[in-house]
Amino acid sequence: MKEPDLYQFEVFEQWTLYDRIVRNNYMKHDEISKSISDAIRHVSNTRQVWDLGCGCGLMASKILKTLQVESYLGIDLADSGLSRVSASLFGVVGEIETRNAELTSFLKETHEWSPSLILASFSLHHFQFDEMAEVLGRIRDQMDENCHLIWVDPQRKSHESREEFIRRFMFDVASTWEDLETSEVLQVEEHMLSSDFPLDASEQDSLLTKIGFSTISECYRDSFFSAKVLRKS
Ligand SMILES: C[S@@+](CC[C@H](N)C(=O)[O-])C[C@H]1O[C@@H](n2cnc3c(N)ncnc32)[C@H](O)[C@@H]1O
Repeated sequence: MKEPDLYQFEVFEQWTLYDRIVRNNYMKHDEISKSISDAIRHVSNTRQVWDLGCGCGLMASKILKTLQVESYLGIDLADSGLSRVSASLFGVVGEIETRNAELTSFLKETHEWSPSLILASFSLHHFQFDEMAEVLGRIRDQMDENCHLIWVDPQRKSHESREEFIRRFMFDVASTWEDLETSEVLQVEEHMLSSDFPLDASEQDSLLTKIGFSTISECYRDSFFSAKVLRKS
């Protein structure tokens, strides 16, 4: 059970800043969600969806709007986002449920229904390498043969250190995220320095192979982000 005062991601606590980042498309939610929708349009079963680190559900609403989704479960530690999920997904999916839970704990439990599609959008990079491997392993344990996992996250360039990635990212934020006040740019930087641990492409690929995933498609990649559609291998 989450202790509210231990919530560590201040930038998501007051949802307004991240909400503006998404609505201004600064993190390419529009292009990424479109590429995912295209990549999974032939997937026959997307009826039951888990959204791991759902935030306010806006990314899910963009991805799921062209699919037939009967049940949606959004999991997150931040009530500020969870309280907006129903509004984001109203009319897009059937039943909407949210759970305030830590992802690793949630994935250890046995659940009422199995997902046919799992979204992990901009959430897994908050785990450091060993924890991320554990979380991906637990996600795999919850998947049956027909379930798909969508993994969206920042991605370092090869040979780029975490510090270099953050410096490059922050240069882009400072020069193109024009709607943000200086204090908000600093908030983004503080969040990244304390909480973001993006992998590079080969680290992602070898981790996925080791855990037992095969990549159906890498449907999006730019100089900061990647999105993959995965299944159990
Ligand atoms: C950058 S937001 C992503 C929101 C949305 N999925 C999107 O694509 O825009 C990351 C979310 O993951 C949640 N999160 C990070 N680590 C978590 C954990 N260990 N357990 C539950 N939620 C977590 C944060 O609270 C936050 O709402």
